[in-house]
Amino acid sequence: MNPTRGQMLSEMGIAPIWRLRDQKAAAFIAEDSSQATPPTPPVVVDLPRPTIRTAVCANVADLDWEQLEQCMATCHACELAAHRRQVVPGVGDRKAEWLFIGEGPGAEEDAKGEPFVGQAGKLLDNMLAAIGLQRDEKVYIANAVKCRPPGNRTPEADEIATCNPFLLRQIDLLSPRLIVLLGRSAAHAILHEERGTLASLRGKRFECKGIPVVVTYHPAYLLRNLPEKVKVWEDLLFARQLMEGTKAPSLF
Ligand code: URA
Repeated sequence: MNPTRGQMLSEMGIAPIWRLRDQKAAAFIAEDSSQATPPTPPVVVDLPRPTIRTAVCANVADLDWEQLEQCMATCHACELAAHRRQVVPGVGDRKAEWLFIGEGPGAEEDAKGEPFVGQAGKLLDNMLAAIGLQRDEKVYIANAVKCRPPGNRTPEADEIATCNPFLLRQIDLLSPRLIVLLGRSAAHAILHEERGTLASLRGKRFECKGIPVVVTYHPAYLLRNLPEKVKVWEDLLFARQLMEGTKAPSLF
């Protein structure tokens, strides 16, 4: 007999939706905004446009992990390469079931060579914990662009397009069961969705290479809009239900 929606929500510890039994999920939503370090406002630096442009390796679609990382590390196909300290390819379990895709490295990621290590990364870790995940365990984290956009600006459409073969090859190599797009740049990179608002993309099941894809807000946006955490929690539940192969009931 199929469980009722109420039974399913109850089973997940969210019936009624505001009374969360899972402490990590409750902590993620209830986290006191006064405790959060306010994000540093982006510094807009007007840098001269460099002229170095070297083609990405011709055969990205055939590369194995090591070759792919080598190709990324030596890529100068767009102007982001001229400003990076290092390429930030991605991090996590190469047998991941979940792939989370963000926008691009910030200053801390550029310094460390790993995605989501700053404030937004802490919030992403809390998001993962809220649905029983942690980075490095069945989770891989990547970005739409692998080099830091100067001044933490949003990557341009041509930069996202130039970096896209790397991201698509990562998806092929990982073959995850589900992809979660964090914010507009990731939606742009995978769904080629440039016009729709992020709100209009939430709560829907898309596909990339036959893999289910869901969209939610970027953690950096959440740092500035903490009340939106509830929506992210809904999106994560939707993602988890898709992952479990259950047809998700509409939660919103
Ligand atoms: N924001 C992103 O989109 N990616 C990172 O790696 C860090 C911050």
